[in-house]
Amino acid sequence: MKFVLAPLAGFTNAAFRTMCRLGGADLTYTEMVSAAGLAHGSIATRRLMEVLDGERDVVCQLFGSKPDEISVATREISETKRFVGIDLNAGCPMPKVVKEGAGAALVKSPQLIYDCLKAMKDATDLPITLKTRPGPKPDQVKLFEILDAAEKAGVSGITLHARFTSQAHGGDVHLDLLSELVSRSKVPITGNGSVVDGESALKMAQTGVDTIMIGRAALNNPLIFNDLKNETQTDLTREKRLELFSMHVDLLLKQHEMLVAKYPDYTTSADDLVSCIFRTHLFRYFSGVRGSSEIRRRMNDIHTVKEVLELKNVLKEN
Ligand SMILES: Cc1cc2nc3c(=O)[nH]c(=O)nc-3n(C[C@H](O)[C@H](O)[C@H](O)COP(=O)(O)O)c2cc1C
Repeated sequence: MKFVLAPLAGFTNAAFRTMCRLGGADLTYTEMVSAAGLAHGSIATRRLMEVLDGERDVVCQLFGSKPDEISVATREISETKRFVGIDLNAGCPMPKVVKEGAGAALVKSPQLIYDCLKAMKDATDLPITLKTRPGPKPDQVKLFEILDAAEKAGVSGITLHARFTSQAHGGDVHLDLLSELVSRSKVPITGNGSVVDGESALKMAQTGVDTIMIGRAALNNPLIFNDLKNETQTDLTREKRLELFSMHVDLLLKQHEMLVAKYPDYTTSADDLVSCIFRTHLFRYFSGVRGSSEIRRRMNDIHTVKEVLELKNVLKEN
């Protein structure tokens, strides 16, 4: 069984993807990248496609709903030669994505999914994949029409986040639909939705999927991939958490250095980048550990890399 890191907007940047690769992820995904942004030359969108030197096995995920923009974007992604595949997002329920007919809006229209995937196929030789949901809501299963559309367009694989759009990221994961998809599909299927430990991974594996995709459970434990592969459970001791934390900060500094070198207009300072990612992500390494409430209390007073690194001492003292 392969275990891969899910695309997570705001999280799966080059530094975190590298953490997860070190933790055993067989494949990682970029955050979703806007096809319209790339087609219209947005530099901020291009930055989302950057990888660290030596980073391997990354898939670039695109969102959009206009085949002509998707075609231009696919060509640009392909020409970077950084990625092992390009994935179409047909599942994101965020209003700003759905409003432009992309993400979860596509689930309602298998024909448009076909048109977008076909535009991608025609624009690159890289493998094209689809990440989708079973349908808009439980009484509107679109999955098998989507399967037909995707196979007809020539995808190399499909990931199913086995929750309806109406469920966003919570509630039951419909493993029955995932099993049925596996049995009907001619292409490999990746299963996704609330795999957090050996037990949930086993239930998903029983559907017959080739690959399991992990999202939120990797955020405070990027070692989960190796744990699931080897049926182990790394003891996240305070020392281990501090090690992961330091490693992640180092990788963010590398990512920052790379962006500064490549983009003269990139003005975010290392202090701003690391303290911002601390507030959204790094603090999670300490959840449930003695000293974590003190770290949360100080959260908004942290503005520099030095202050972020000094938080390690808060945990040590406790
Ligand atoms: C913060 C956040 C950001 C996400 N961003 C994306 C994204 O960019 N593209 C995508 O296809 N799915 C995105 N998702 C959905 C995840 O990839 C995944 O399908 C979902 O979290 C279920 O997997 P999990 O239960 O293992 O977290 C996001 C989910 C979360 C919570």
